[in-house]
Amino acid sequence: MPKQKMKIPDFKKFKEEGKKYTFVTAYDYTTASIVNESETEIILVGDSAAMVMLGRDSTVGMTMDEMINFTKPVVRGAPDTMVIGDMPFGSYNVSVEQAIANTSRMLMETGCDCIKMEGGASLAPTIKRVVEAGVPVVGHIGLTPQTASSVGGFKVQGGTPEGAKKLIEDAKALEAAGVVAIVIECVPSVVAKAVTEAVSVPVLGIGAGPYVDCQVLVTQDLLGMYSGFKPKFVKHFAEIRQAMVGGLNLFHEETLSGAFPGPENSFNKAVEIPKLY
Ligand code: KIV
Repeated sequence: MPKQKMKIPDFKKFKEEGKKYTFVTAYDYTTASIVNESETEIILVGDSAAMVMLGRDSTVGMTMDEMINFTKPVVRGAPDTMVIGDMPFGSYNVSVEQAIANTSRMLMETGCDCIKMEGGASLAPTIKRVVEAGVPVVGHIGLTPQTASSVGGFKVQGGTPEGAKKLIEDAKALEAAGVVAIVIECVPSVVAKAVTEAVSVPVLGIGAGPYVDCQVLVTQDLLGMYSGFKPKFVKHFAEIRQAMVGGLNLFHEETLSGAFPGPENSFNKAVEIPKLY
């Protein structure tokens, strides 16, 4: 059966039905087309591109132009998959007007289905105005990589009763502001469960245990492509890096031995060569 593209109203429908689904990242046309061929329902063009694609130390520093350039080819490569465009740090915190202008620009220039912004209750008034302007918004709470340095780095969030209460309040504020879904990152499973039960919108968990509505992972992590740090919540469902290094080494070996290219990989038409040397 051909894949049915997940639409914005499906967030609500899937939550009501208790349906589970998956959400991964992509930053380029080829990867997007591979994800599109899979059963995966959602692609995020995350600002994690800063680290995964550009080799930077942090997501802070990504620009609107860079995010738009990563998002456009993903939309082209994944016509049957919902695509979320990630808003970079500094593109929505200056004013409501700036947030509406930049989120609209992301939708209009890339053709993505919705956008994601990091922030809880304090960002809710801005998100409400963005939603009223017609932009579907996915929230992001818990560990928010754009501001991770202010909480001492990439650490589990909400690990105290006060922390858990704050996360539930953040989720409820985002729900009231009109988000279509909420990403929750790096929190204890019981806290993610409480947040998932507290709101009517779906909770999309990364490093948030099994009791959320949808599981999120970075594609390069789940396929075993990234050589950097492997967080506890990441599982390798394939070892693509090893397969790629193996393929490159085989190409190298066969080139050196003369096994490649063989006649089957060469154009074998007879051509009379004029005597010029
Ligand atoms: O940028 C990103 O990849 C993200 C995911 C970790 C949710 O925000």
